Amino acid sequence: MKVAWFDAEEWEKEYLQYKTSDLDIEFFEESLNADTVEEAEGFDAVAVFVDSTVDEEVLNSLDADLVACRSTGYDHVDLDAAEENRITVCNVPQYGGSTVAEHTFGLILSLSRKIYDAIRKVEEGSFDHEGLRGFDLNGKKLGVIGTGAIGQNVIQIAKGFGMDVIAYDPYGDDKLEEELGFMYVSLEDLLSKSDVVTLHCPLTDSTRHMLSEDEFDLMDGALLVNTARGELVDTEALINALENDSVSAAGLDVLEEECYVEEDIEVMGDLEDECDLELILEDHMLMERSDVLVTPHNAFNSEEAMHRIVDTTLDNLRNRENRV
Ligand code: NAI
Repeated sequence: MKVAWFDAEEWEKEYLQYKTSDLDIEFFEESLNADTVEEAEGFDAVAVFVDSTVDEEVLNSLDADLVACRSTGYDHVDLDAAEENRITVCNVPQYGGSTVAEHTFGLILSLSRKIYDAIRKVEEGSFDHEGLRGFDLNGKKLGVIGTGAIGQNVIQIAKGFGMDVIAYDPYGDDKLEEELGFMYVSLEDLLSKSDVVTLHCPLTDSTRHMLSEDEFDLMDGALLVNTARGELVDTEALINALENDSVSAAGLDVLEEECYVEEDIEVMGDLEDECDLELILEDHMLMERSDVLVTPHNAFNSEEAMHRIVDTTLDNLRNRENRV
């Protein structure tokens, strides 16, 4: 089987060297899109990351009958056009439950123990403790929104820290409560009772801005952590909540408008068509704040998670597992 591996990174070439004697893989550093689709001529399958744009134009001219997404999300593939062209699309449904949960705790601890501020102080040559007093997680209440793969890992880690865990999930599995030692509550109860609130549910039409002004008004100085999707949180409402102390600090791996993160602010004028400038400015206001820590949508990015993604992609190429 001839595979065109787009968005290829150097480590992938090395990692795959001894794992793919049955596959004839050619690596392309560029993404698959209408400009590069010619490169895929004569291949049986293409493997792509989220940077590729596998739209109707690309799918109409692909020789391959299999698109293997090296990601959970597949919104960069036009599924209707794939079906019309009888092209199978596969994804990697699970790879990062513990990986994203660990990053979540990285953010929680950075905020609760002011680790980033402490490091910055030392870099500036100061070893005094002024402004660095944090708080213990032990005995505090953690509110987990979404008890799927990542939320469950977060709950398990929280128990290790001696935290009391409550959770909200409209499709929650009651058996989990006993198994993992937490209690399901309403979203309102979770927001008003938690010392730390962490988001682990998907972005859908009904969850967009699930935390907005009314919800923040229920919070009483809790930390907010978001490693799920930026659009779950109304950015303007979060800035107000930080101003009026309903939220004491926030750790965000995802922002509502990630164009800003990926593009240079100097070319903001060119972004007008694709990105919401108001949101970009609000993100900028968030990032400037000393009570907000932002990481660049990096929670998934561990060596082990990347290996799991590639291994599952190989299964998908060989056996067409995980069809979407
Ligand atoms: P999952 O599908 O295993 O779990 C999602 C959970 O959310 C389910 O239990 C579901 O019932 C629940 N849910 C659905 N609607 C809800 C609502 N309105 N309120 C509360 N809970 C609700 O997904 P998984 O693997 O745990 O991932 C969660 C999210 O994390 C993903 O949707 C994705 O957006 C994000 N993610 C972020 C990454 C990063 O690098 N920052 C990497 C991977 C995932």
